[in-house]
Amino acid sequence: MSRIGVVGAGYVGLTTGACFAHLGHEVVVGDVDADKVRRLAKGEVGVLEEGLPELVREGLSTRRLRFVDGAVAAATDAAFVFVCVPTPRAADGDADLSTVETVVRELAPVLRPGTIVVNKSTMPVGSTTLVARLLRDAGAVPEIGVASNPEFLREGTAVRDFLSPYRVVIGADDPAVAVRVSELYRNVQAPVLVTNPASAEMVKYASNAFLATKVSFVNAVANICEAVNADVREVTLGMGYDPRIGFEFLHPGPGWGGSCFPKDTSALLRTAAAVHEDFSLLDAVVATNTAQRDRIVAKVHEALGGRPAGRRLAAWGLTFKANTNDLRDSPALGVLGRLIADGIEVRAYDPAGGEAAREILPTLDVVADPYDACVDADVLLVLTEWDEFRWLDFTRVAALVTGRAIVDARNLLDPAAMRNLGFTYRGVGR
Ligand code: UDX
Repeated sequence: MSRIGVVGAGYVGLTTGACFAHLGHEVVVGDVDADKVRRLAKGEVGVLEEGLPELVREGLSTRRLRFVDGAVAAATDAAFVFVCVPTPRAADGDADLSTVETVVRELAPVLRPGTIVVNKSTMPVGSTTLVARLLRDAGAVPEIGVASNPEFLREGTAVRDFLSPYRVVIGADDPAVAVRVSELYRNVQAPVLVTNPASAEMVKYASNAFLATKVSFVNAVANICEAVNADVREVTLGMGYDPRIGFEFLHPGPGWGGSCFPKDTSALLRTAAAVHEDFSLLDAVVATNTAQRDRIVAKVHEALGGRPAGRRLAAWGLTFKANTNDLRDSPALGVLGRLIADGIEVRAYDPAGGEAAREILPTLDVVADPYDACVDADVLLVLTEWDEFRWLDFTRVAALVTGRAIVDARNLLDPAAMRNLGFTYRGVGR
C-alpha cells in the first residue's frame, strides 16, 4: 500500500482521504483550518455524508488516517499528493485556481523525486499542465509526476460513489504515472479509463454539463406538459425505458444548484469561449435553469391569488437537494429570496437544520418542526425531496394552515391524496 497526502479536508478531500485509508493506504490529510483539523482528529465530521463518520473513525483507530495542519505536513514523505482544495467560480465565471497555485508553490520544495501530484479537485481543461509548470517554476525536482483524477462524488452518496464508482478516470502524459495512480484503486471494482490530462479534465466537465442538461431539459418538458395536460412523471417513465435515455436525472424541480453544476457549467462555457467555440446549447441549459426558479415563484403567486404582500408561506426544504446539509447555490433559497422580496413572510423547516440559511436570508424564520412551519400559512411550498415530507400527517397540516394551497416543486406528494384533503395542488409538469 502507499503513503498518500491529501491537501484539503473539505467534502472531496475528507471523502478521498477516509476512503483511501479504508482501502488500506496510509493517509495524511492536511487543512489550513486548525479547528477543522482538531475536530477531525477527534472523529468529528461536519458534513452530512452517509458512512463518512464511520470511515473517519475507522481510519483513526487503525492509524491509517491522520489529520495535520497545512499542505506541507500532509505531503511530507508522501508518494502521492492529492490536491483537493476548493476551486470556486470566480467573478468572470472561470474556476478560481488561486488556492491550487498557493498549495503547489508551497509543496514544490518539499516533494521528493518520484512523488506524483494528483489533481482531484475539479479544474478547467489544461490545469494539470498548469500544475506541472507551477511545480517547475517553484523549484520542484524534475522527477515529479502530475495527473488528473477527477472526482464524481454526489453529495449524500460520496462514500458509495468513491468506493463503488461508475468509472475511475486518470489523465497523465506519462504512462508510468498513470499506472501508479491506477494501482491506488486496485481494490475498487470499476472500469479505469487512462487518457491524457485534457481528456480526463473534460470528462468531468462534460459529464456534469450533460447531467445539468438532462435536468434543464426535463424542466422545460414539464412546463410544456402543464400546458397540454400531460403528466411529466408518466412522460419520463415512458422515456426512461429507452436505455439511451434512462430514468435518472429526469426529475423536474426548482432547477439545479449546489457547489458543482453552477460552477462547472460556467467553467465549461468559459473554456468554449476561450477556444472560440459556440456552446449556445449550454447557455440555454443555464438560462432554462434560471427561469425555472421564476416558474416556482409564479406558482406561489398564483396560489396566493396574485396578492403576495403580507401573506404567510410554509417552506419545507432549504438545502440544494435532499440528504445533504449543503445550502450552496440552493434553488430553494433562490426561490425563497424572491418570495421574501415580494413581501411574503416565510417560515421554513429543513431536516438537516438549515439554520445557516439565516446568513443568506436574514428574515427567514427557520423552525425545528415541519408542522410549526405550517401554522397559519396561506400556502405550503415543498422545495427539496426529503423523504420524510412524504410521510407527514397531512390531516394535521390541514388543521394548522389557513390557506389550502400546496406548491410541490419536487412532485414529491400525491396530488389525488392532497386534493382529497381539500388542498389545491400545483406540481411541476403535472
Ligand atoms: C453532481 C454530480 O452528480 C456528481 O457526479 C459530481 O461529482 C458533482 O456534482 P451533486 O452536486 O452532489 O453531484 O448533486 P446532484 O445529485 O448531481 O444534483 C445536482 C442538482 O440537480 C441538485 O440541485 C438536484 O436537486 C438537481 N436535480 C438532480 C434535479 O433537479 N433533478 C434530477 O433529476 C436530478
